[in-house]
Amino acid sequence: MLTMQDLLTAVVYVLPAYIANGTPVVVLRFARRGHPLDMGMIMRDGRRLLGDGKTVEGLISGVSAGLAAAVLLYVLLPGVYRGFLECGLMPVGAMAGDIFGSFLKRRLGVERGGSAPVLDQLGFLLMALFLAWLPYGPPDWANPPTILLLLLVTAFLHISTNTLAYLLGLKEKWY
Ligand code: CTP
Ligand code: MG
Repeated sequence: MLTMQDLLTAVVYVLPAYIANGTPVVVLRFARRGHPLDMGMIMRDGRRLLGDGKTVEGLISGVSAGLAAAVLLYVLLPGVYRGFLECGLMPVGAMAGDIFGSFLKRRLGVERGGSAPVLDQLGFLLMALFLAWLPYGPPDWANPPTILLLLLVTAFLHISTNTLAYLLGLKEKWY
C-alpha cells in the first residue's frame, strides 16, 4: 500500500545515496582537474574503461559526504535504519552504481558526459538499495508502489538538480 508516510520515509532513507551522488559534481568544479579512476586505461573496444568523469577525488568526496550524512541521519532519526550498516552501505553502493554505469556507457559506445536515460538517473540508487538491503532485507516501507514512486521522485530530483548545477555553471550538461 502506498502512503505519504512510506514515501517520505523512503526519501529520507536514501538521502546518503543522493548526497554521495551529488557531491562529486560540486567538488570537481573546484578541484579543477581530478585524477581519473581508470588512470586513462583503454579497453579492447578502443574506449576508456570508465572515462574522465569518474575520478579519485569524486569517489573519495562522494563516499565521505554520504557517510557523514549517514552518521547524522542514524543519530538524529532513530527508527529509520535497522543498523548503521544499512545507511552506511548506501554511499558505497551509490558510488559503485555510478561507476558501473560509466563502465556500461563506455562499452555501449556512449562518450563521457553523454546521456544514458534511466541508467544516469537511477543506476546509483538501485545499487545503493541493493547493498543497503543485503544485511536485513527490504525495510517496511519497501512495497512495490512506494519503490516505484521513489524511483520516479529520484529521476525527477536528479534531472532538476542537474539542471540547477548546469545553470550555476557547475556542470556542462543539464542531464
Ligand atoms: N565525478 C567525479 N568522480 C565520480 C563521479 C562524478 O569526478 N566518481 C564528477 C565528474 O566531474 C563528472 C561529474 O561529477 O563529470 C558528473 O558526474 P556524472 O554525470 O556521473 O559523470 P559524466 O561526466 O556524465 O560521465 P559518464 O558519462 O561517465 O557518466
Ligand atoms: Mg552525466
